[in-house]
Amino acid sequence: MRRIFGSILLGLFGLAVACGGSESGTEGEGSAGGEDLSTFEGPITGDPAAGAEVFANFCAGCHPGGSAGVGPDLHGRTDSPAEIRALIRHGEDRMPAFGPDQISDEDLENVLAHLRSYGMFQ
Ligand code: HEC
Repeated sequence: MRRIFGSILLGLFGLAVACGGSESGTEGEGSAGGEDLSTFEGPITGDPAAGAEVFANFCAGCHPGGSAGVGPDLHGRTDSPAEIRALIRHGEDRMPAFGPDQISDEDLENVLAHLRSYGMFQ
């Protein structure tokens, strides 16, 4: 009896893993789709000092650093500039999207320059 119960549990667990896996797989491909990301590529041209201000206004509330925030600490992340441009413009799960009406293209570059001073993109 115990054995049967165990294998039912295992079966359920396997099913959950299979479903979860395929779901997050498609999502990942959708948000990081090759063509889409290529429109976000290019060198970082912004000014870190101006970016610190943008970060304080739009990002620091959720990304204060360390484990205190809703969002993760961003120090030392290795995402590419294109990935972060796309993330800020499109959002991801609980991370909100910011359109050009909120953060201009220029300020987007400034934020990236600021994040580089965190050790990102290296
Ligand atoms: C309302 C809260 C909130 C705000 C505001 C916010 N973020 Fe986030 N951010 C998150 C959360 C939560 C995550 C973790 C991933 C998730 O749950 O979607 C995240 C993830 C990230 C990541 C890591 C992405 C990854 O793939 O894990 C980066 C980089 C980032 N945010 C940068 C920014 C920048 C730059 C700004 C300002 C323009 C910003 N965030 C504003 C909540 C926020």
